[in-house]
Amino acid sequence: MPVLNSDRIYIIGFMGSGKSTLGRRLAKVLGYNFIDTDQIIEEQVGMSISELFRQAGEKSFREMETRILRETTLSGKAVIATGGGMPCSDEHILLINTHGISIYLEANSAFLKQRLLQGKRQRPLMAGVTEDEMEGKIKKLLNDREPFYKQAHYTIPLPVESVETLIKSIGLGG
Ligand code: S3P
Repeated sequence: MPVLNSDRIYIIGFMGSGKSTLGRRLAKVLGYNFIDTDQIIEEQVGMSISELFRQAGEKSFREMETRILRETTLSGKAVIATGGGMPCSDEHILLINTHGISIYLEANSAFLKQRLLQGKRQRPLMAGVTEDEMEGKIKKLLNDREPFYKQAHYTIPLPVESVETLIKSIGLGG
């Protein structure tokens, strides 16, 4: 593998895979800033992502994601937790992989369903999906998205043992 730019570490993966929680911990251990792209969007528009989907639609949200992603490529040392759909275009995964190290938090649909059922956060893509329908919906989305997620430099199966193990497996912190 060519030498990777480790100034930015992008955490990618499906909704509910724990990107923000792990990303925040990783940033703390490495002494990097922490950036959560969903949080930035919410702060900029002054409403929740769910509200933004309702008021402006998914297309506007995706356009904002493109702008925010481009901005992150100019940041100093940072761990960046991305929204679940952010890496899922040729342009976006290329930006991520060119400007930083990418880590895919890999999980199967049953695991993700449990996480999403436990989570308090509202996810507009799961709005109106019943518990019975959930796994099917996750499987379909995951199937569409894995070709992008799998382009990450590192694929880490969940659950992650510890941040320290993760740091070792991506060859940092030594
Ligand atoms: C989305 C995931 C969400 C958020 C938005 C769309 C997606 O982020 O960006 O609801 O397309 O998978 P999380 O992955 O942090 O839940």
